[in-house]
Amino acid sequence: CGIVGIVGRDAVAGGVIEALRRLEYRGYDSAGIATLEHGRLERRRASGKLVNLEARLAEAPLAGAIGIGHTRWATHGRPNETNAHPHATARLAVVHNGIIENFRELKQELETDGVRFETETDTEVVAQLVSRNMDRQMGPVDAVAAALPRLRGAFALGFIFAGEENLLIGARHGAPLAVGYGAGETYLGSDALALAPFTDAITYLDEGDWAILSRAGAEIRDASGAVVKRPKQTIATQAFRVDKGEYRHYMAKEIHEQPEVVGRTLAHYVDMAAGRVMLPEALPFDFARLTRVYITACGTAFYAGLVARYWFEQIARLPVEIDVASEARYREAPLERDGLTLVISQSGETADTLASLRYAKSQGQHTLSVVNVPTSTIARESSVVMPTLAGPEIGVASTKAFSCQLTVLLCLAIAAGRARGTLDAAGERRLIDALIRAPGLMAEALTHEGAIEILAREVAKARDVLYLGRGTSYPMALEGALKLKEISYIHAEGYAAGELKHGPIALIDESVPVIVIAPHDAVFEKTVSNMQEVAARGGRIVLIGDAKGAAEHGLETLATFTMPAVDAMVAPIVYAVPIQLLAYHTAVFMGKDVDQPRNLAKSVTVE
Ligand code: G6P
Repeated sequence: CGIVGIVGRDAVAGGVIEALRRLEYRGYDSAGIATLEHGRLERRRASGKLVNLEARLAEAPLAGAIGIGHTRWATHGRPNETNAHPHATARLAVVHNGIIENFRELKQELETDGVRFETETDTEVVAQLVSRNMDRQMGPVDAVAAALPRLRGAFALGFIFAGEENLLIGARHGAPLAVGYGAGETYLGSDALALAPFTDAITYLDEGDWAILSRAGAEIRDASGAVVKRPKQTIATQAFRVDKGEYRHYMAKEIHEQPEVVGRTLAHYVDMAAGRVMLPEALPFDFARLTRVYITACGTAFYAGLVARYWFEQIARLPVEIDVASEARYREAPLERDGLTLVISQSGETADTLASLRYAKSQGQHTLSVVNVPTSTIARESSVVMPTLAGPEIGVASTKAFSCQLTVLLCLAIAAGRARGTLDAAGERRLIDALIRAPGLMAEALTHEGAIEILAREVAKARDVLYLGRGTSYPMALEGALKLKEISYIHAEGYAAGELKHGPIALIDESVPVIVIAPHDAVFEKTVSNMQEVAARGGRIVLIGDAKGAAEHGLETLATFTMPAVDAMVAPIVYAVPIQLLAYHTAVFMGKDVDQPRNLAKSVTVE
């Protein structure tokens, strides 16, 4: 969920909506705003996307000069209007991101005290708890101070109070929160992106901090209640320019931006003239001394990690263990002191990934994060950060962040290979030459868009789609299936091509398109055998391969996309393009909301 708050000079509703628009990537199940109208709390809320709230506001405008807003990704309670934030009592309104884990126990205590609840949400418990403190003659600041230590879980909060035109309180406990400073106005937001329209002067709250905002600025206190100073940063607001340009969707724009952003990312990691990887930052560990790397991430970032496993193992002979972060955080995997945990995250805020990072630190591991948002919590808590320079990614389904993650990970594997003596200078130069060609080859891959759009009409008819690949194309198959199901809602599965015969082959008939990702690499012949098994059962094959492979396989396909010839190590970066385009055009053809697919959120800050 996304949180915003403004203590302003005049009506803040417009500003709150503008900030919420930039926070919609955190969820769009419902949205709401509360302001003070002549000292009285007023709310407008609506289920569904922000436009519904805007319509509500147009019918019944709010004029208050202080307000809080929220965009929700439902955890407790259905995404209807009653459960939408802000939650309020007669005394205060609150917006909340995260989960209050002990809400049942607190609710029971409050109910025993005679408090009556309107909703099923954990958030209302916070509102009622602070209200009860105020009933007991505490002022708003003391009432919040007394309530915070009672809340368990990972959350961020924002409060305003009836009759308090110059007081907004924010609290950070496991979910990010920033304070922004303007001329005679002060802001609270889940991230700097939300506050970019108003200010570039930002303070990130530290874990356990809470802040008392007024028009004049903010007083920050730590968990013990002591007043603390936190650094004020100037955020480069131009980094936040987000528009669709000539494209119909952000996702289309982001797919097409890939040659440029992968090139930019490469330039950051590679000394092109010398043909060598040049990491932008010194590493606090030595690859040569590691016995393994532990990788963890969620969703698409996890699949980037799966590709990287092949790279680290093949290029650097470095064993890799990898797990999705929601498992990694609780698995209690024994991690050796001074070993390396590598986390991958576009947003840098994914709750499970962050928790795994913290677990790794608690085990005495070095932590290296590959993140796209340099100011994010994961970036700030890692021992070393390797940024992806994809720029803001708005489409919920990750595209350009993924290819940039792959680019950085391949550079890291090359650096590891050099350090471990498994990659000589000539080998490194060969890989770098191939990598440098990747942006151009991605641009070439984009020229297949027209043909992919036509194929998408076929795929759109399917109920199930299978994606197959071997080697690094196996995680690409997983990613292809994920992209398709995320935005078209067609059931899709990615499989290791060789595993087909152990189950999914039972699904194959003429109604199931089988997308085979098969560059002409060392395992191409093996994949061809698997394609034969599909063809023999009437399956319809879509081959994403290259000219050499197409000339050899001799099979009839529903469609063949001939990618440019590319070094096998670099292939995943180029092959990302057609699988993204196929998912995109299938979903567009089906009339789905590709940038904001149902039930998903771009950044999942709850576990
Ligand atoms: C969400 C998004 C996915 C993304 C995953 C991990 O589920 O919908 O597209 O891959 O989170 O996000 P992160 O920001 O950590 O890369």
